[in-house]
Amino acid sequence: MAEVRLVNLAKAFGPVQILKGIDLTIPDGEFVVLLGPSGCGKTTTLRLIAGLEEATSGEIFIGERKVNDLPPKERDIAMVFQSYALYPHMTVFDNMAFGLRLHGVRREEVDRRVMEAAEMLELTPLLARKPRALSGGQRQRVAVGRAIVRNPKVFLMDEPLSNLDAKLRVQTRVELSKLHMKLGVTTIYVTHDQMEAMTLGNLVVIMNQGIIQQMGTPSDVYDRPANKFVAGFVGSPPMNFFPALVDGEEELFFQMASFRLPVLPERCAALAPYRGKDVVFGIRPEDINMGGGDGAVHIPVTAKVDVLELLGAEIFLYLSSPEGIFVASSASQKLLSQKFLKLKATAVSFIARVDPSTPAKEGDSVQVVFNLGRSHAFDADSERAIY
Ligand SMILES: Nc1ncnc2c1ncn2[C@@H]1O[C@H](COP(=O)(O)OP(=O)(O)OP(=O)(O)O)[C@@H](O)[C@H]1O
Ligand SMILES: [Mg+2]
Repeated sequence: MAEVRLVNLAKAFGPVQILKGIDLTIPDGEFVVLLGPSGCGKTTTLRLIAGLEEATSGEIFIGERKVNDLPPKERDIAMVFQSYALYPHMTVFDNMAFGLRLHGVRREEVDRRVMEAAEMLELTPLLARKPRALSGGQRQRVAVGRAIVRNPKVFLMDEPLSNLDAKLRVQTRVELSKLHMKLGVTTIYVTHDQMEAMTLGNLVVIMNQGIIQQMGTPSDVYDRPANKFVAGFVGSPPMNFFPALVDGEEELFFQMASFRLPVLPERCAALAPYRGKDVVFGIRPEDINMGGGDGAVHIPVTAKVDVLELLGAEIFLYLSSPEGIFVASSASQKLLSQKFLKLKATAVSFIARVDPSTPAKEGDSVQVVFNLGRSHAFDADSERAIY
């Protein structure tokens, strides 16, 4: 087991900068999920750690040791790839034993480790079979087994479940979690599936365009996103964003294109520097509820139900608040930027996730309230979270 530390790690392929200075410390024994959209550099990061690719600049430490110049087999790492590529002509046992034999491990030791891993992964009855006689999930477990027997300091897993169907993914996900609890080996797990990231990782690292956007617990990144990218990437349906103008004198308001909401007193200090400026107001679909408000804070917003999706335990309402009920004070009218004025003319669309007993129908005009205590605001230019 070991800590993995990346220091200002960069990678370019020719003129294209793929990783742009990654600083990341993965504590010893931790299960960390690297989450980000396709092409953001997740696989490249793993391949650099594994030594399959050379860094353009920066340092990689495994434990105390800088490994930049070590060949892959001396890094004490085992990688599970998306395409798990088992040897088709070898049995499950031989597939799992192959790497150990190659390293010249004694026969009794190979047997012991393979049997132990097979037991852990419930592969014992399948040891004599060839891969073609296994289900997708079983093959996946053999690929994991092949990594376990190596007894590495670090596991690198690159979307290991993406070839499995939805049900098997969930099942294997739980198995991987249990396995990590048992083995306690530092694991870096790559996925672009946010459900997988949120359920598997103690820590989630969100990456975009070769830059780490945020590292935190699943609830950190969900409840306290560091910027608009993280806020929009984590959560499904995604967070609603509204361009807004910070308006008002003593009391502050978010002036949206077609409605306005008060800024909670405890948020005023953070937003005061933005008075007269554009920000982005964010709120998750589950923090928008049906019903009238209490007047002071929970100002009801009128919206039309464009589409209603019933998903059994919940309903997604695709709402639009009509254009033209624009109520900015004349003082703030002057402050409105060109960008905002353009938005003013368009209806604002957003999604609410509500109780399935909601009587709303498509085409209805409804009143919704925003749970402002759970809202977010982002700097319109830098996209960093203001709160
Ligand atoms: N050998 C290479 N030569 C040139 N460009 C490469 C090479 N390998 C990767 N890239 C580019 O680097 C970027 C990051 O690739 P990477 O495979 O790390 O993405 P990823 O985050 O793993 O995406 P995915 O979720 O699709 O697997 C991509 O734009 C890719 O085209
Ligand atoms: Mg990849």
